[in-house]
Amino acid sequence: MANKNRIYLFDTTLRDGEQSPGVSLNVDEKLEIAQQLARLGVDVIEAGFPIASQGDFEAVRTIAQKVKGPVIAGLCRANRGDIDRTWEAVKEAESPRIHTFLATSDIHLKYKLKKSREEVLVQAVEAVKYAKKYCSDVEFSAEDASRSDFDFLVQVISKVIDAGATVVNLPDTVGYAVPEEYGNFIRSVIEKVPNVDKAIISVHCHNDLGMAVANSLAAVLQGARQVECAVNGIGERAGNAALEEVIMALYTRNAFYNKEINVNYGEIYRTSRLVSSLTGMPIQPNKAIVGKNAFAHESGIHQDGVLKERSTYEIMSPELIGLSRSSLVLGKHSGRHAFKEYLKEMGYVLKDEELDKAFLSFKELADKKKEVTNEDLEAVIKDQVWAIPERFTLSYLHISSGTTVVPTATVKLSIENMLFEAAATGDGPVEAACRAIDKITDIYGKMHDYRLSAVTSGKDALGEVISRIEIDGKIYNGRGLSTDIIEASVKSYLNAINKHYYERQRDAKKQV
Ligand code: KIV
Ligand code: ZN
Repeated sequence: MANKNRIYLFDTTLRDGEQSPGVSLNVDEKLEIAQQLARLGVDVIEAGFPIASQGDFEAVRTIAQKVKGPVIAGLCRANRGDIDRTWEAVKEAESPRIHTFLATSDIHLKYKLKKSREEVLVQAVEAVKYAKKYCSDVEFSAEDASRSDFDFLVQVISKVIDAGATVVNLPDTVGYAVPEEYGNFIRSVIEKVPNVDKAIISVHCHNDLGMAVANSLAAVLQGARQVECAVNGIGERAGNAALEEVIMALYTRNAFYNKEINVNYGEIYRTSRLVSSLTGMPIQPNKAIVGKNAFAHESGIHQDGVLKERSTYEIMSPELIGLSRSSLVLGKHSGRHAFKEYLKEMGYVLKDEELDKAFLSFKELADKKKEVTNEDLEAVIKDQVWAIPERFTLSYLHISSGTTVVPTATVKLSIENMLFEAAATGDGPVEAACRAIDKITDIYGKMHDYRLSAVTSGKDALGEVISRIEIDGKIYNGRGLSTDIIEASVKSYLNAINKHYYERQRDAKKQV
């Protein structure tokens, strides 16, 4: 008999999360995130919406081929073309799932679908039956379920379960519900749908009123067994329920919820950082669980309490989520072995060539910075080890700038071991350097967004620049790291250029 207390975590960072305004991930970045989600141990990864674009299709297919462990789901509307395409994308997964959806609320029927309830009922059943021909695991989502006519919804749920749906998801698509109401709604569905025991009831809550996590947990208390969420709560509009918050609420308040999940808690922090860095979406400092201040105690009374006994003001331990308190004791004289051991302790097991790269960057950094912290090291790993292959590398940068001079930059880039130099002017030193880069690469980027943050504190802190660069109508996230903020900015721009070049080459190869 299946364990009724087991809650399944369905992660939609790569689908609903990628629908966050301004977020666009390439295939490699999606694969990197999916692999990390598998290490975290989510039960289901919704890898994308294959019919949406060729890029989405390829990302879902690559993840299905390469990521082992979780179920890999692809989203599709309730029609044959969408379902065919999704099956093509997920079929090579160890455990594939087709996730098909259709709206059930009168508002959506009248204005969006222009269909009657009867027509929608038939379409939903047909879609599930059709998907079922391909795949034993079929999820049906009744879009806008929380605003749907209850009796009609019950009818739809019962018919799609008869048609073979193994999971039925009841989204609060517009984030309108409040916890007690949504919990009651889920309980009523479970009471009223006669064949409900043949499927798992799932919830998918949006955060428009800031209640996505609370609504999801209220539903869990009333019998929902799958929770759909996204890392750092990203997603359409105000986002989805935050995965890390759902996990830590179920863990920390286990005596209250009495539910079981199966995740590697120590991967939570790393997953959050990876998603933030690859999507370019920063995490607010006071964000629950993974925000910079989530475990920082500012007031003297609190600090005193925590020093005497941590549980006075701490309900969770930062170590549990993989956030180490200790600051790095490695310095510029540390050897490769100590470095490797330290990374291992932080949870990074690198291949030899990755370790060589990371060690070299660490040495360079240790030369510039008195104290190298865990955060610095994580940043270096993301920058060096997880980077895409670089066609253009910055080898020299000279800036002339000030209040009374026109900012001018001279840049040298290395391309296949040859140096190319250009100079340009601009409104500011960063713009001047970017224009010089354009001259060398013949790739022209337009900066849409620019964010500078310090990886750690102190005058010698590593600066991280995340920029959004438009090239040929597509947005690329660029990331640059340096103790010098102009250099970090230029590296961020160059990173976006390299991503564009890499994609262009890959697409060209495919066409041959
Ligand atoms: O919010 C929603 O209703 C969705 C469905 C497609 C599951 O994202
Ligand atoms: Zn959604």
